[in-house]
Amino acid sequence: MTTAADSYARGMALRAAGNERDAAMAFLMAFAIAPGVAAYRNAAFEVLNVMGGYRTLPVGVMAGLAGAVCDPKLDIQPLSLVVRNLIESDARLPELNKMLAGDGAAIEKALPGAAWLLTDPLLTAVLARAVNIGAQIEGVFTVLRRHLCDCVAHKLDTILLTDFRDVTTAMVRQCITNRFAWAETAQEGEIVATLKTRSDENAVLVRAAYRPLSEIERSHAETLPAPIAVLWREEADERRRAAALPELTPLTPGLSAAMRTQYEAYPYPRWRQVHVDGRLSLRGLLGQTMPHVPFDAALDGNVDVLVAGCGTGRPALTLALALANARVLAVDISRTSLAYAARMAAELQTENISFGVADILNLGAMSQKFDFIDCSGVLHHMADPAAGLRVLRGMLRPHGVMMVGLYSERGRHNEVAAQRFVQDFGFADTPDGLRAARATLLALPAGDAARAVVDTLDFYTLDGLHDLVFNVHESRTSPAAIKRLLATCDLAAIGVNVRPALGGSAFRAAHPDPAAWADLDLWEAFEERHPQVFAHMIQVWCRPTEEKP
Ligand SMILES: C[S@@+](CC[C@H](N)C(=O)[O-])C[C@H]1O[C@@H](n2cnc3c(N)ncnc32)[C@H](O)[C@@H]1O
Repeated sequence: MTTAADSYARGMALRAAGNERDAAMAFLMAFAIAPGVAAYRNAAFEVLNVMGGYRTLPVGVMAGLAGAVCDPKLDIQPLSLVVRNLIESDARLPELNKMLAGDGAAIEKALPGAAWLLTDPLLTAVLARAVNIGAQIEGVFTVLRRHLCDCVAHKLDTILLTDFRDVTTAMVRQCITNRFAWAETAQEGEIVATLKTRSDENAVLVRAAYRPLSEIERSHAETLPAPIAVLWREEADERRRAAALPELTPLTPGLSAAMRTQYEAYPYPRWRQVHVDGRLSLRGLLGQTMPHVPFDAALDGNVDVLVAGCGTGRPALTLALALANARVLAVDISRTSLAYAARMAAELQTENISFGVADILNLGAMSQKFDFIDCSGVLHHMADPAAGLRVLRGMLRPHGVMMVGLYSERGRHNEVAAQRFVQDFGFADTPDGLRAARATLLALPAGDAARAVVDTLDFYTLDGLHDLVFNVHESRTSPAAIKRLLATCDLAAIGVNVRPALGGSAFRAAHPDPAAWADLDLWEAFEERHPQVFAHMIQVWCRPTEEKP
């Protein structure tokens, strides 16, 4: 009989040979046999996250997933793809859609027959705790939210508030998570405005499904179901934290100021969990991904870490939790982003991290130096990324290591098409404009490059969509250009961060010499053949070159 350990070992061997597809199945089998083992679960979830196309999954995997969602500490975002694939290929969905096209009475009549969907534990969990990435699922729930709104406005009974209350609460949480990305009619907008005068729990619940929780008064928030009231308290806590953050540098006028305005309104991303397995020294952590690279012994002791442009803090908190003996300073220009990060730090009881409002371009005035600097997804929002990199280079200790992440020109081909589409169309940079852009992008024919963004996670939240296609400024680059950029700051690459399933395995199979991972010219050629390898970003670890004589 195959054991979970056998399956996992087979997956690792297949992965090492560059066969990601079969490795994926082996990891899923290991998870199905022993869902409680963290290594199997992590491998399976990574597979589920990056490899689409599942229409069915082995029974054991489904049972494992159903058990896994009971763990409130698990980041279940990868399940969103599974749920989308399973539900959107269900033969009952077209019939349900037909019934939902009727009037309120027809919808109410159809709902008992939709129990297969409305009581699905995986779907309810995804709606409550992750971002739904199914456009058809979104379509169904957009109708159900409208129906709920209508019933509550006219004080009509609805089964959504009785038999299906759990999924209705999960749907409202989803609306809050996605920052009200779903389409709404003018009539819904008018009804929601009139509900402000009502304090009954159903009216408050509907308002929470459409408008920011900050608009709901404390006394009304007390009537919200517990899973939503907790979000109201979290947001109130973030507002308090935002006001209390120290200002470490002034803000450079111009683009930095425009960026601040953008990320104050659209802090991104609103994550909920990090998974960290054990604590290591910085040298140990770097050695895990780059075992062939020698690192200075100083990285074994107490280290100072700077996360420059930490946003809502997920990478910063991951580092703080993963690194023993590290003091982490996380800075950003956006107070709302930092406040989100600070609240999560408190929730995760992370004490070795502090936060400050700072413009990277002005950080050079600080005398503090760092052993590790993370600046991922930030420099490409500056008019001159080299200027930001120079400042950070000046803050790096001679034995230090830096992680730089920049958008790829090839990898963002579809995003650029969507950005141009949105600009040409002239959608307003307002929540209504963003919602209109989503609807228009969704209606584009399959195969249109701009429409490809509907297959990204970012498309399904307004924060993500703003970052994706409404950004005030982004530049893009390539591995070879990053090599030149690093050289201008006396830095050289020591490795590239690519997940195995997204191209890492294929690169390793083509270039078995570990030193090849630092060769940005080789990555340039690889990206030419695999234009999606850096679809997320090009993330490069680098460190100072020898001092010039
Ligand atoms: C897309 S987010 C990335 C956040 C984070 N590094 C991550 O990977 O999750 C970009 C962040 O860069 C910040 N940013 C942009 N320009 C900046 C500057 N000049 N100084 C500090 N932060 C900046 C923005 O406020 C925003 O939070």
